[in-house]
Amino acid sequence: MPNPEGATAPATLTYEGTTLELPVVRPTLGRTALDISAIGLKGLSVLDPGYADTAAYQSAITFVDGEEGRLYYRGYPVEQLATSTSFLDVAYLLINGELPTAQAADEFTGRVRDPKMVLHVGIERLFDAFPQSMHPMAMLAIATEALSAYADDGAKPDSPAGVQQAGVRLLSAMPIFTGYALSTVRGLPRGKSNRSLDYAEDLLQLCFAIPGSDHLPDNVTARALNTLLVLHADHELNCSTATLRMVASSGAGFYAGVSAAINALWGPLHGGANQEVIKMLQEIKESGRPLSYFIDKAKDKNDPFRLMGFGHRVYKTTDARAKVIRNIALDLVEKLAPQDPLLDIALDLEEVALADEYFISRRLYPNVDFYSGVIYRAIGFPDEMFTPLFVAGRTAGWVAHWLEMTSSSAKRIGRPTQIYTGPTERPVPKNRHEAAS
Ligand code: CMC
Repeated sequence: MPNPEGATAPATLTYEGTTLELPVVRPTLGRTALDISAIGLKGLSVLDPGYADTAAYQSAITFVDGEEGRLYYRGYPVEQLATSTSFLDVAYLLINGELPTAQAADEFTGRVRDPKMVLHVGIERLFDAFPQSMHPMAMLAIATEALSAYADDGAKPDSPAGVQQAGVRLLSAMPIFTGYALSTVRGLPRGKSNRSLDYAEDLLQLCFAIPGSDHLPDNVTARALNTLLVLHADHELNCSTATLRMVASSGAGFYAGVSAAINALWGPLHGGANQEVIKMLQEIKESGRPLSYFIDKAKDKNDPFRLMGFGHRVYKTTDARAKVIRNIALDLVEKLAPQDPLLDIALDLEEVALADEYFISRRLYPNVDFYSGVIYRAIGFPDEMFTPLFVAGRTAGWVAHWLEMTSSSAKRIGRPTQIYTGPTERPVPKNRHEAAS
């Protein structure tokens, strides 16, 4: 294993008279790791619920500094990229390791936005079959998986050229999938991708333009969406990216891996939290109860209610993304939906929670999902479209992680171990039905 700072004396682990040397692995940023891969030979394993302290891979893509509340893509602070860089340039950065030159940016954008990169009519028909009541996350997962039937570029998981092409295809398809999903939910005709627009603009017009009209989204909204896509583009080894890598490790195809990642992202503790936040704010508004009632519920261990959009596995001071998103919410909601009371409720809830000993002592702060929903709502997206918008951004990171994982010489099938707590060996009872009656 590479060790950026060179050799360091190994750590030692002593257990029942046996001493084991554990090599030390130093990252360029973040926590030093102990390489425990030899402990299995001694008949031991490691218990680490939620893999909270297990580094399963080495990665050079993204770093989250949870103590400082910073997020870096290939070393660049995300807040600098968010306001100055197009989503496709950030996708290029994540996938290729460097920001593109003007020529590389044109070439990459041209490939993703190539009018010839149209969806097969079979994928369009798939959306015809989806009921209006289907969650758009299910539509996105199915449509992504179905791409494997119409393009073989993602089939060979460790062919970098094939996966690069599959990544371009998926990035190209995502605004269309998002627009089609919204049309299905609304029971309206599907729009048509306008490849002369930029990525965020096209996504917006696919969602909101009346088919046949030449309505273009306004600049401020398109810029805000571009920033949101950049902020969601990657987040190192979160639940959905870990799922993607797990699928990659088995040798399955790229589209299958992304489809699995979309399903993992859907969960309310992960990307699905943005939808849940709005549900919670609406419940607060409609109940007429004071905020303290909901804060007490969130603190009550016998109550499953949690403050959605609060807390994070890695961020322990502030979520780098939430700081930027909060400012967009203040600007955009004021401009687009000044009558919406949910932003004020969110601001008040944040203030009350951040002054409460329970949240202070557990270091729980608003995360990326706390304010994104109020922005999407102001733009006009229904609640169930919030998590698909997370997907549209995160696709860039998934392409980068797939390429890094499958081109690594250290790849190995993902297969955690367990601590078995079931019965020890016992014989199957003879005549067991007679014994039971
Ligand atoms: N409301 C109330 N209590 C909380 C919350 C919350 N939102 N989050 C954590 N806690 C408490 C938790 O009960 C535990 O308390 P105790 O130590 O007394 O048992 C303590 O804080 C530590 O929480 P944990 O569940 O062990 O933390 P985790 O790292 O396993 O979970 C989390 C992280 C994000 C799943 C969790 O904070 C949570 O459920 N938040 C609400 C859902 C949410 O907003 N998810 C979006 C995350 S950001 C988007 C993404 O990238 O996924």
